[in-house]
Amino acid sequence: MTGTVRVRAATPADVPALVAVVHAAFASRPVLDPPSTQLLETEESVGVVVAATGGLVAEADGEVIGAVLLGDHGDRLGLHRVSVHPDHQGRGVVGLLARAAEDVARDRGCSGIEVGARVELPQTVELWLHHGYALVDRAGPHLTMAKELPFALAVPEADDARALGHRLAPLLRAGDLLILTGDLGAGKTTFTQGLGQGLGVRGQVTSPTFILARAHPSLGDGPGLVHVDAYRLGGVEELDDLDLDSALATSVAVVEWGEGLAESLAEDRLEITLRRRRGDERSGGIDDTDPREVEVRPVGARWVGAGLREALSG
Ligand SMILES: Nc1ncnc2c1ncn2[C@@H]1O[C@H](COP(=O)(O)OP(=O)(O)O)[C@@H](O)[C@H]1O
Ligand SMILES: [Mg+2]
Repeated sequence: MTGTVRVRAATPADVPALVAVVHAAFASRPVLDPPSTQLLETEESVGVVVAATGGLVAEADGEVIGAVLLGDHGDRLGLHRVSVHPDHQGRGVVGLLARAAEDVARDRGCSGIEVGARVELPQTVELWLHHGYALVDRAGPHLTMAKELPFALAVPEADDARALGHRLAPLLRAGDLLILTGDLGAGKTTFTQGLGQGLGVRGQVTSPTFILARAHPSLGDGPGLVHVDAYRLGGVEELDDLDLDSALATSVAVVEWGEGLAESLAEDRLEITLRRRRGDERSGGIDDTDPREVEVRPVGARWVGAGLREALSG
């Protein structure tokens, strides 16, 4: 039982094995009240789903050891009956299925993924949190956990980076945290300038390299902007000294070089990475003429269904 685990799309021929793994996985779980309807799945019911919206199977040594049924939840891909055979649990199979599901979601043009979980199964909830899912809804013991997919946008010119910041501004409110990552000159400050314009804040947004943080109050009634450069910060204590918590009460916080440091400030955040797009391997990878791109990784329930990608795509 040690072969490489491979995930692929389920075919009608997989349906019997898929039902078997769904039932086997169920047998290893505690009985819930109300009970899960997992055991009610039949070859007929699973066959209908596989034909209509698809499924994924995880295979090792030619044997189906895990499966998930896919569902169409509007803008989100739904994961149902996530199952791993008891003999193969603890090998990261759920993670492999989840990653493959993200690829499917992207192919289908979904902005995110959601999965149901039961409040009585905290380990399952933990597992989904670990995979970047956030709790977005609860009805009695039934939890809905969801994840907004990361996406990348091309920003060929400095003006495109500025425009991106400008387009993001209307979606933001006080308390929102943005963590900007990218080499020196990648465009972090340029992006923040557009954001400041979009927010309508006082003062010129400039590189805050020689001061650690600069506050730009709103000129209207929207949130202000607190612009932090964490490059020379010694650590989390020095970040604490900036007292961003109180700034976040009225402002959006943007932290350049904040990766690995500022995440603790807020459970919900946007992790924005500016980079030069990797060139063709044969031409030697990254060089200065490579087009630039911005990757946006939404973290937390705040961004689920917030329409981020549509708003930023312009
Ligand atoms: N696509 C682009 N996005 C952002 N900046 C760009 C782009 N193309 C050229 N530039 C230039 O690169 C520099 C980026 O500087 P800056 O925004 O201060 O980077 P950082 O804050 O990441 O160190 C600016 O001079 C900007 O005009
Ligand atoms: Mg900068």
